[in-house]
Amino acid sequence: MKLNLLVWRQAGPNSPGRMVPYTANDVSPDMSFLEMLDVVNEGLITRGEDPIAFDSDCREGICGMCSLVINGVPHGHELATTVCQLHMRHFSDGDTVTIEPWRARAFPHTKDLIVDRSAMDRVIAAGGYVSINVGGAPEANSIPVPRDVAEAAMDSAACIACGACVAACKNASAALFVGAKIAHLALLPQGGPERTRRVAAMVTQMDAEGFGNCSNEGECEAVCPKEISMANIARLRREYARAMWRGGK
Ligand code: SF4
Ligand code: FES
Repeated sequence: MKLNLLVWRQAGPNSPGRMVPYTANDVSPDMSFLEMLDVVNEGLITRGEDPIAFDSDCREGICGMCSLVINGVPHGHELATTVCQLHMRHFSDGDTVTIEPWRARAFPHTKDLIVDRSAMDRVIAAGGYVSINVGGAPEANSIPVPRDVAEAAMDSAACIACGACVAACKNASAALFVGAKIAHLALLPQGGPERTRRVAAMVTQMDAEGFGNCSNEGECEAVCPKEISMANIARLRREYARAMWRGGK
């Protein structure tokens, strides 16, 4: 296939940016989207031009690093798929494809298609963990957890902190991401001792980072590569109300 790419190029956070046209030749349907960009970059490097900067790490859909808005949709138009798992068989010969970075106030631009998503790390550092020493692996049935509760906690824990939910939201809200992190720990007994302090601290940090408020648009759930449900946002609100009732401690 031959694709016409329009790629956001911006040398740095204070430089002007613009969409630059490129042609991707000899694209195999079996390539991933990132492999297609690798080939485009090989051509740029061979010609002595600056390659397109973009983020990736695992390329297996588990690290959350790949972060491209493809044809206006974070992670592209395939449901429940990260950019690194999006394959070129979903495109057609002659297609024009736009590629842009995540855009949100809490994600400062770095270069080309890369933004700084460390705001999400700071939200996790504020409380998204269990700090008690639980020792070695316990006997499996020593802390009984009902099957449906364990499944719900695992569904929430599937969030890979990619930030697509923020990029898709007109408010740049991180409510789905924070809701998933709060829910998976609030559901399990191990998360109980720090339940109140955790949600108070994480919501305070979320607000301090400049993420917007949730207005129930649902764009976050629609683009989430891990199909995190908006029910996590409802749980976040319940957990936060409970924490405020208890003084946030
Ligand atoms: S909730 Fe989904 S879209 Fe948001 S950070 Fe987690 S995995 Fe990414
Ligand atoms: S590169 Fe790790 S999820 Fe895409």
